[in-house]
Amino acid sequence: MQTILVTGGCGYIGAHTIVDLIQNGFDVVSVDNLSRSSAHSLEGIEKITGKKIKNYVIDLTNKAATEQIFIDHPTITGIIHFAAYKAVGESVEKPLDYYENNLFSLIHLLQLAVKYHAKHFIFSSSCTVYGNPDHIPVTELTELKTAASPYGATKQMGETMVQDSTVAHPLSSILLRYFNPVGAHPSIAIGELPIGRPQNLVPAITQTAIGKLPKMQVYGNDYDTRDGSCIRDYIHVCDIAHAHTLAMQYSIKNNKVNHCEIFNLGTGNGITVLEAIKAFEKVAGITLNYEIGPKRPGDIVAIYANNDYAVKKLGWTCKYDLDEMMRTAWEWEKSLAK
Ligand code: WQD
Repeated sequence: MQTILVTGGCGYIGAHTIVDLIQNGFDVVSVDNLSRSSAHSLEGIEKITGKKIKNYVIDLTNKAATEQIFIDHPTITGIIHFAAYKAVGESVEKPLDYYENNLFSLIHLLQLAVKYHAKHFIFSSSCTVYGNPDHIPVTELTELKTAASPYGATKQMGETMVQDSTVAHPLSSILLRYFNPVGAHPSIAIGELPIGRPQNLVPAITQTAIGKLPKMQVYGNDYDTRDGSCIRDYIHVCDIAHAHTLAMQYSIKNNKVNHCEIFNLGTGNGITVLEAIKAFEKVAGITLNYEIGPKRPGDIVAIYANNDYAVKKLGWTCKYDLDEMMRTAWEWEKSLAK
């Protein structure tokens, strides 16, 4: 039995990945201190898979408490590390909280992965490591620019820590650079649970549409793009989740050590903010109440992925299109209102 430890397993991408791992025959243990997530996700996972997942409510910056998980579960052969703070704006206000939480957690996990031979280590990274790229779409070889926020810096530093640990120790690691994960599981049993006012575009759209927010702002429409609004690569969270299962299977099958690979997880399609809003309005049959506001500091103008490497090496394909992203996001928002 191969047990995979999923950190941040009660979070948005973590919960969707646990569902996919279970459906592909893996045994899963979660650790999540519920500081930015809810145990409600575990009920959703059980509803979809029929499996009750053990979640350790432990802070990964507490190394001794984290080590107990490896003592309790000697069959842990792989780790998928999602748990981290991820709000760009908050990271600018509280950089030390971000460095302490995101980096100390990772250091402890890497030390324990080495000590307990959990050699397959998948790190949740982000397209934010590219900064403002000179050329798009970006490939895994695109030069990394200075991170636009302390959050982005923790992802860049995290990638370096994983790579250096993989050189020094018998680890097989994979860095997955997500673009913009959106949408919800088709069962609508799990989805995104933003805390407070949503920072990200799609939850802002769905909360405005359902009336939780009176209006939303498009942060700038005079950028140098086809309609003046920023371009991003929106990708369904289930496509992101399945890529983690494929990456873990790929690492186990190759059975290498001192080996690290990087994959872009994006659809390869760049969509503007206004196009995303139009897609939502079409799917939901609603006219969204938005206004054009000032640009948001730190926003990059345009980024989307070249995902050829993940498609070729992992045998990964994106199954959900923009309409399905918006439909499931909307169905999930409506389910929360019930
Ligand atoms: C997308 C576009 C906004 C809200 C960040 C992180 C990334 C990942 C996802 C963690 C931008 C515009 C947004 C709104 C708007 N985070 N927007 N009105 O900034 O691309 O990526 O979140 O994993 O690492 O960098 O995502 O959804 O915040 O913004 O106009 O109310 O939507 O200006 O152009 P972003 P986002």
